[in-house]
Parts: sequence; C-alpha cells; structure tokens
Amino acid sequence: MSDLERFGVSMDGALLNAFDELIRSRGYRNRSEAIRDIIRDYLVSTEWEDSEHEVVGTLTVVYDHARHDLSEKLTALQHEHHERIVCSTHVHIDEHNCLEIVVLRGPAGEVRRLADELMATRGVKHAKLVSTTTGREIV
Ligand code: NI
Repeated sequence: MSDLERFGVSMDGALLNAFDELIRSRGYRNRSEAIRDIIRDYLVSTEWEDSEHEVVGTLTVVYDHARHDLSEKLTALQHEHHERIVCSTHVHIDEHNCLEIVVLRGPAGEVRRLADELMATRGVKHAKLVSTTTGREIV
C-alpha cells in the first residue's frame, strides 16, 4: 500500500450530515472508507470513458427462452464476439425464464457496444451491465 495521506475537506454542514447518514445506513464505519470507495468508483467510471482502455464488465440478462429464436440469437452474438467474452453462466429460473451472466473484457468501446447489442436484442426482459475494472490501476 502506498503512503497514507490525510487531507481536510470543507463542505456545507447539511451536505455532510446527509453524507454521514447515507454511509451509516450502508454500513460504513467511517468517512474515510466511504470516500475511498467513492474515489475508486469515480476512477473506474473514467476508465470506461476512454474507449481504448481495457475494462471488465458483467452483463446480466433475463429472457424468455421460448421467445422465437432469442436463445440462439444471444448465443450467436456471443460466438461472434468470443474474443471479448470471458465466460457465461446460464440459469433456468423457471419453466420460461432464463438468466444469463456474461463476463466481458476488452477495450471499453467494444465491450460497451457488445453489451448494448445484447441488451437491445428483442425479447430481452431485463438487462444490466456492471461496468468494472481489471483493477490494475486501482489502489
Ligand atoms: Ni434457461
């Protein structure tokens, strides 16, 4: 771990109270832990702004497998972009619904485009991308 540094922050009292309340409800024991996490999250989000930056993401998709050839379409898309897909897991939620988790890795622009394409596939009930990081540049 690099050197620990301390700094002072001035802010409106009401804003600080709202922050303290929020982080307490989220289980943080002190402001420092919360601020560190917020800064890391900000750094990770900027990694996604650079389309060439290597990122990692997980896409969760829920769909009805009986809908036309949706299953095949989603699988075909993943084969087409196999170099960006680390792995995927399929869960049969019930008689109709499937949940698929796809781990994506590559340049932010390409990963984002592929996630968008998978999410926009007709018949997908819900999809969410978690945009995270390889962790290499995050302390
Ligand atoms: Ni299934």
